[in-house]
Amino acid sequence: MNLKDENLYYVGGVVRDEILGLPSLDIDFCYEGNAIEFAKNSGLNIVKENPDFGTVRVLYEGQEIDIASTRTETYPQAGHLPVVDKIGCPLKDDLKRRDFTVNAMAKNTLTGEIVDYFNSKDDLKSKKLRVLHQNSFIDDPSRIIRALKFSARFGFGLDDCTKTLQEECLGNINYDMSYHRIKKEIKETFNLNSDKLLREFIRSGIYKLLGKNQDIPEIKGSAENLINLVKPCICWIVYAGLFDLSNFDLTKEESDIIEWVKKLKRANISSEWNLYRLFSESPIESVIIYGLVREYDLAYHYLKSLRSIKPLVNGNDLINLGIEQGKLFKEIFEFITEEKFKNPKLSKEEELALIKNKYL
Ligand code: CTP
Repeated sequence: MNLKDENLYYVGGVVRDEILGLPSLDIDFCYEGNAIEFAKNSGLNIVKENPDFGTVRVLYEGQEIDIASTRTETYPQAGHLPVVDKIGCPLKDDLKRRDFTVNAMAKNTLTGEIVDYFNSKDDLKSKKLRVLHQNSFIDDPSRIIRALKFSARFGFGLDDCTKTLQEECLGNINYDMSYHRIKKEIKETFNLNSDKLLREFIRSGIYKLLGKNQDIPEIKGSAENLINLVKPCICWIVYAGLFDLSNFDLTKEESDIIEWVKKLKRANISSEWNLYRLFSESPIESVIIYGLVREYDLAYHYLKSLRSIKPLVNGNDLINLGIEQGKLFKEIFEFITEEKFKNPKLSKEEELALIKNKYL
């Protein structure tokens, strides 16, 4: 990226990642002053601007980039989303409001100089996560989850004072908070797919941030293994779904997964066929969660072996046999699925023969 100005900085994670020698997917820019005015005065191609937050999106060399104005924020209510206090503040004040010292560096786009007001480089070297002020976790408890995420991603640990502040915050949670950021961080954290991280989430009491009166699940086996076996679309929910997520604003797909877990827990699984039928109707994520809290071996057996048992005939084959789409179609599929389940080695010809024999 060639966009350069003496007041324009790379900021946050991108600077941390560069020092760590890691690629950064998300590049954040910050302008010391008003970013919207900067974009206008520089003749940049503005795509979108948000004067309330002092942010602007520009199209530069074929790429859309977001530039934020330096800003201070205040938390009208601890744990709720912050409001912008001042746009165009000194860079130091903008960096001071951030989560950890390692994320509070900036790099000048013109000179390449790294701005490090808080000994961030030393913390990065000693792999320490250190908050910038005493109220950091109280203002924004999602930072506790961020710390867990960064510890898993980079092997960072909390410095002693930060650890004490985390414990204090977790020991006295004010549940009147915004769960929007909590959900975002939970997603990013559990998408890392790590049993170790789940253990730490429970051990250190971070799970309490999900809501009041959470039960600690008794985990029967490795989530990582089941996830690696079937690669579900929504990895994070397998971990988060072990807890009560009623405070989260879930999408339809996410709440279906949770509802299916409840259904599986209530079901009476009396035979392998019964298990196969039930699990194959359910989202794969729900089967994994069920396995983790109830019957690990059953879930493993289904995911590893039974799941792949499917008839080879399809709708077109039935139409070619002169069968019209409708109720009978469904019945035939149920019949052939059961036959296939009893004898997974059936060839397509054998399946068709069974269908003809029974229905034609
Ligand atoms: N930030 C913060 N408090 C939060 C979230 C973010 O102070 N609850 C600040 C940090 O300075 C962070 C920056 O905003 O570096 C950008 O946040 P984000 O994009 O979520 O994380 P990155 O640090 O860039 O890390 P990555 O994108 O690699 O996960």
